[in-house]
Amino acid sequence: MSAVVVLGTQWGDEGKGKIVDYLAQKAETVVRYQGGSNAGHTVAVDGTEYKLRLMPSGILYKGTLCVVGNGVAFNPKVMLQEMDGMIEKGIDVSGIRISNRAHVVLPYHCEMDGYIEELKGDNKVGTTKNGIGPCYADRDHRIGIRVCDFIDKEEFAKRLKENLELKNQEIVKLYGKEPMDYESMLKEYEGYADRLRPYVCDTIALLHDEIKADRKILFEGAQATMLDIDYGTYPYVTASHPISGGIGVGAGVAPRDIDKVVGVVKAYCTRVGEGPFPTEQLNEIGDKIRDAGHEYGTVTGRPRRTGWLDACVVRYAGMLSGIDYMAITRLDILDCMDEIKMCVAYKYKGEILNEIPASLKVLAEVEPVYETFEGWKTDISGIRTYEELPEKARIYLERMAEVTGIDLGIVSVGPNRDQTIVLA
Ligand code: GTP
Repeated sequence: MSAVVVLGTQWGDEGKGKIVDYLAQKAETVVRYQGGSNAGHTVAVDGTEYKLRLMPSGILYKGTLCVVGNGVAFNPKVMLQEMDGMIEKGIDVSGIRISNRAHVVLPYHCEMDGYIEELKGDNKVGTTKNGIGPCYADRDHRIGIRVCDFIDKEEFAKRLKENLELKNQEIVKLYGKEPMDYESMLKEYEGYADRLRPYVCDTIALLHDEIKADRKILFEGAQATMLDIDYGTYPYVTASHPISGGIGVGAGVAPRDIDKVVGVVKAYCTRVGEGPFPTEQLNEIGDKIRDAGHEYGTVTGRPRRTGWLDACVVRYAGMLSGIDYMAITRLDILDCMDEIKMCVAYKYKGEILNEIPASLKVLAEVEPVYETFEGWKTDISGIRTYEELPEKARIYLERMAEVTGIDLGIVSVGPNRDQTIVLA
């Protein structure tokens, strides 16, 4: 087995960072294939927390190749900030490889992200204003600037000029804001290009060579299934494909070359931003989960919406990505709960729904069908084998596997690497 995918099954913040980091111990190459600096993984190693936004999590292991695939909306400024932060902590960044086909996030993308949200008012998507959506939109409008052009001095100067003229018209006429300055932007970004040039390569060829050599590759999903632009709760979604299919387009690796898909499932559910969330608990239970889990955004600090596990969502994620096994995270956060609920089906106008409805209107009106479980009320953070987990916790996990139709593979009971239970 050489190519493994780790992806989120819910609305993100499942703790993918920890699982990727855990699995990255064995990986020789770690690849990001979508999203951008809106990702925000947190990885704890020996008591030090590393916040990663754009950087593949494999960076924390010496000698690992860390590939930023062509499907990533690449923000050079953020990348360099992260690289500098790593270098300061004594981490070797020489394994970074950046796709020459990735699209570059430029300052006008971030500005426009904010303006678009402002215009939308109550209908805002709740983006993190990292410019990811506008960057992908430019790609689709065929005016994007790719890394290969970004590192070509002449080409970048020319394309930036053309693009900024266009963008400034939009910024002034449509959004009523001040135009952005070409010269200073060019100077700043030329400097970034100079520093990043040595890390740029054709990552498609690189990954194919890695696959041929049977090296261990880990594909690291950012965001999550319910935020997928096509399969998530559109329009309250991200602008890329976090599902396993995203690897084909975002890394240039064919589906047949993927050996295993791991779905990360938080033991309860959270969501950031707008959009329907059937199991949301807008009550003291939701507050208790938020407090116990410190559920606030890594990058934005925004309080997350909280609720019970929605097994319908996880089942759907399994179907979309061909998930082989679940990595359950943050089970320890439920230690304090007297009782725990799991949504096993939806009811809509008195009928059981077997699919996740495409219509948000319907999804907002479904009634979750809950099963209730007794809480285990024990600190499980020190437990290292599945058998040692309280029976009540095992009952909860095994029912999750039954309802979703996906095997249990990993259970995480704390943020650290050793707080990980691997099932045989
Ligand atoms: P995503 O990539 O969006 O999933 O981000 P993330 O993985 O960093 O998730 P988030 O920003 O919510 O951070 C998760 C936090 O939970 C991090 O601080 C992790 O170290 C921590 N964490 C991961 N797994 C566990 C776990 O099993 N128990 C506890 N208590 N914390 C965990």
